[in-house]
Amino acid sequence: MKIAVYPGSFDPCTNGHVDIIARSCRIVDKLIVAVLSNYKKTPAFTAQERVEFLKRVTHNYKNVEIMTFSGLLADFAREQGASVIIKGLRAVSDFEYEFQMALTNRKLNPDVETIFMTTSTDNMYLSSSVVKEIAAYGGSLEQMVPEEIQANIYDKLRR
Ligand code: COA
Repeated sequence: MKIAVYPGSFDPCTNGHVDIIARSCRIVDKLIVAVLSNYKKTPAFTAQERVEFLKRVTHNYKNVEIMTFSGLLADFAREQGASVIIKGLRAVSDFEYEFQMALTNRKLNPDVETIFMTTSTDNMYLSSSVVKEIAAYGGSLEQMVPEEIQANIYDKLRR
């Protein structure tokens, strides 16, 4: 069974993340979306909220599981029996950092390969910070965030 981990902070998840999940779960048997709980930046949403949002927006994907993790991603992948880490690349500027992370993770866990998936062009500009900024000022989150979680994002962030 081919198990992959798609890690991130998902603070909150965006259409960009959902696009990567939808495309990745077609090429593996099981996709674990791994929400980092010991985030280096202070998250706007608790780990529980971030997990709940992801569960809501991925309920149609039968081979997707949402989990939290803390510590090293390489260790989490090993514990879960995952042989693949999936990362989304939005632009060339993401590459240097992601390349370093992929090499580090392989050093820490030689049994895991990182696969980069290019973000769909519609989502190239997106990030969780952009979403939070727009929500804070009451702007439209149309085509940025799944409809099911938009109200929760405004509730928490709108000034
Ligand atoms: N579409 C839209 N936005 C996307 C995206 C996509 N497909 N993929 C990522 N992003 C955005 C995120 O929304 C986030 O935006 P923000 O900075 O505005 O919040 C940004 O890209 C970074 O994504 P994030 O989820 O924070 O990922 P990251 O690259 O910082 O890495 C982990 C998160 C969990 C993978 C990483 O911190 C990790 O592995 N931590 C565990 C410790 C470890 O093992 N470290 C490596 C060895 S030292």
